[in-house]
Amino acid sequence: MFDSGFGGLTVARAVIDLLPTQDLVYFGDTGRYPYGSRPLAEVHEFAMQIGSMLRHDYNAKLLVVACNTASAAALDDLRAELDIPVVGVIEPGIVAAAEGSHSGKVGVVGTVGTIDSGAYPHAIEENDLPIELTACACPGFVEFVERGETDGAGVHLLAQRLLEPVIHAEVDTLLLGCTHYPYLARTIGDVMGREVLLVSSADETAFEVRRLLVEDSCPGRVGRRRFISSGDASVFETIGRRLFGAELVGATEHRWDI
Ligand code: DGL
Repeated sequence: MFDSGFGGLTVARAVIDLLPTQDLVYFGDTGRYPYGSRPLAEVHEFAMQIGSMLRHDYNAKLLVVACNTASAAALDDLRAELDIPVVGVIEPGIVAAAEGSHSGKVGVVGTVGTIDSGAYPHAIEENDLPIELTACACPGFVEFVERGETDGAGVHLLAQRLLEPVIHAEVDTLLLGCTHYPYLARTIGDVMGREVLLVSSADETAFEVRRLLVEDSCPGRVGRRRFISSGDASVFETIGRRLFGAELVGATEHRWDI
């Protein structure tokens, strides 16, 4: 599983809770985060590189692209390139949001890269979902999470400004279309109001992983977890533990050859 940084840990949590016997290698590309403001072609290159590394150097039997931006940039090519199942976060999230909405008015928030890619309207069309989508990019949210600042006046003010289009559209369901955003759920929920349903793709993605590993449940064993960061491993561990919990131990560093 990989993400640009800590966001994919929201998906890791759901996968570990649902599939505790499976081993998990989590790669946070913190040395090259953020992905959301980079050209999609560059994120594509990173995603292909990491996917290949996890498959070949870590012997992954399934890959989770726990990042919406990387899913938008490279999911199809990762599926074509790798000889293992590859699960992304875009489709499970939008299907869950459509199911959760009563009015059919759904909002999605994500990085500039994800929103500009058109991946969500495309997924709605592919799955023939009867919803009206309002999409808005939220530049700046990810940076708060990467600093471990998940509430407070700064992020609240930013949320009030950035969420204006989805408030204005009177959505009844808001999809958190960036894996970092569930860490801001309290702030986003306060700004949107209690009547708006917040949907994270983490749980739905974990169900998809379980469906694909159904023959392979390894009863009785306790899965091993490994956390790798392309940035400073001790910073990754300190902030990661704050977000993910005490299970995040022994993070190691991976340096890209530049
Ligand atoms: N967590 C990522 C996503 O879901 C990307 C955040 C970033 O690096 O900008 O899009």
